[in-house]
Amino acid sequence: MKFRAFLKPLSRSFTEFTDGAFTKDGKHIVTMIPGDGIGPEISQSVKRIFAANNVPIVWEDVDVTPFLRNGVTTIPDDALHSVNRNKVALKGPLATPIGKGHVSMNLTLRRTFDLYANVRPCKSIVGYKTPFENVDTVLIRENTEGEYSGIEHEVVPGVVQSIKLITEEACRRVNHYAFNYARAIGRSSVTVVHKANIQKMSDGLFLSVAEEVAKDYPDIKMEALLLDGVCLQLVKDPTQYKDTVMVMPNLYGDILSDLGAGLIGGLGLTPSGNIGLKASIFESVHGTAPDIAGKDLANPTALLLSSVMMLRHMKLNKHADEIEKAVLKTIADGHARTGDLGGKATNTQFTDAVIANL
Ligand SMILES: NC(=O)c1ccc[n+]([C@@H]2O[C@H](COP(=O)([O-])OP(=O)(O)OC[C@H]3O[C@@H](n4cnc5c(N)ncnc54)[C@H](O)[C@@H]3O)[C@@H](O)[C@H]2O)c1
Repeated sequence: MKFRAFLKPLSRSFTEFTDGAFTKDGKHIVTMIPGDGIGPEISQSVKRIFAANNVPIVWEDVDVTPFLRNGVTTIPDDALHSVNRNKVALKGPLATPIGKGHVSMNLTLRRTFDLYANVRPCKSIVGYKTPFENVDTVLIRENTEGEYSGIEHEVVPGVVQSIKLITEEACRRVNHYAFNYARAIGRSSVTVVHKANIQKMSDGLFLSVAEEVAKDYPDIKMEALLLDGVCLQLVKDPTQYKDTVMVMPNLYGDILSDLGAGLIGGLGLTPSGNIGLKASIFESVHGTAPDIAGKDLANPTALLLSSVMMLRHMKLNKHADEIEKAVLKTIADGHARTGDLGGKATNTQFTDAVIANL
């Protein structure tokens, strides 16, 4: 494709947390976006468990209720400055009204901080029985463009058009991130998931950039698989993907990661990290769960495991290991499971049990 010659390769392709903000006594300052619906309840659970484990973090709570500035959905300045200063944030879910109006706040956050790679691990929890026992997938979703570019219009009444925008730069950085991530966690291959047989130019670009990037990682194999085939194989035997990192365009990653969540017991269990060059924001995969909001019924595990990913990103590995172990033990014990896992415990009771297991 001719236009590719005009795009320069990205110089920085892998980010590491190095330069966040600290209090005078050396604690990390981390932005907390409690979010909507069950967000404030599960955020409170994380704060209680971090305090009980003496994690050297001070939270800076910010509100991201959007407003329109010159017709553009905008993040309040306090929240913007907080994330820019601290470089790392933990975020509860945010409600997105369906239909016209504001652009999704989640999309706005991803674009504002250029959070280009969304890492979504899905791992079976020992002691919590599901049809498959050894699921251990890692999926990396391109997070800034593709089907989520938000370019839609009505051509004539009754005919609408939605544009899937794919750029070489975004393909390159997310593929580099996937190869680096595979190397960092000791996996031997990267699986590029695509539909280049149908979306020949857009997914074709994603795939051809992945093939180029793969040349920089001779120790990691690259495999390209069609999305529909991966869906079929994942529900037949997810253990086939235990030694690979899957990378894919935006929408495919959104859908495939919910499929993965279903395999390990539901949305209450799956964490994620949005990695960017300016900052990184960690959040659960699930939404605001309006049906159980305000009732102390939410399972805080997904946000807790997201906070564990955040701690590892910040190199606070000891605290990450201790909190992860306590959360997984609490679920495996079975006495304090929340309703989504077939138990009767409230969020508060589950949180108390995790603290007791620390
Ligand atoms: N990252 C985000 O902020 C994010 C992600 C997805 C959806 N949303 C938004 O959330 C709102 C609701 O979306 P939805 O209903 O489609 O999906 P949802 O994830 O909020 O809920 C789906 C189902 O899963 C249950 N569930 C989800 N999280 C749970 C938890 N932690 N513990 C126990 N049960 C849990 C809910 O009770 C519900 O039955 C929408 O406005 C949507 O746009 C936000």
